[in-house]
Amino acid sequence: MSIENKRREVLLSKEEIDHRVRGLGQQLTRVYEGKNLLVISLLKGSFIFTADLIRQIKLPLRIEFMTTSSYGHSEESTGRLEIVQDINVDLSAYDVLVVDDITDSAITMAGVIEILGKRNPKSIRSCVLLDKPSRRKVPYIPDYVGFEIPDKFIVGYGLNYGDYFRNIDHIFAFVD
Ligand code: IMP
Ligand code: MG
Repeated sequence: MSIENKRREVLLSKEEIDHRVRGLGQQLTRVYEGKNLLVISLLKGSFIFTADLIRQIKLPLRIEFMTTSSYGHSEESTGRLEIVQDINVDLSAYDVLVVDDITDSAITMAGVIEILGKRNPKSIRSCVLLDKPSRRKVPYIPDYVGFEIPDKFIVGYGLNYGDYFRNIDHIFAFVD
């Protein structure tokens, strides 16, 4: 059966996501008040979350994009973090917030934080919409988390399956 015809189970509605993103934005507004905030969005998965989140952070901020890959087109991480497109910014003036859609094995976020952390930022933290703590391959706890979710492969709101479904406005899983 093709994936389009599989049954879908909604995990997070558009309303639930919007409400939580507003809450995260308010929290981050308090945390980064008076700081020099640079948001680094990990493409492609976090582009929609980042776009919504930064509009809820009521502070001046700068935004950069970095492309990483640890998945290829499969559902399982290959275990290697590849920086496909790096940023070209001196981080020493900035409080850096790395934003991703989801932390799963944590190979991506732990790796990015380690690499960028060596570039002398004033501070560096992470914010992810979703966290699957049961799936870790490396120990890492994101600083700001939207939702903890169970071990299901999910799509929508920026998250893809085979480069599709990123434009769906809610988050769902395919049911076998
Ligand atoms: P990690 O390196 O294993 O933590 O995975 C991080 C990346 O894998 C995320 O940025 C996502 O793009 C992708 N990913 C992990 N779990 C899922 C999922 O359930 N659906 C879609 N993409 C996922
Ligand atoms: Mg990603």
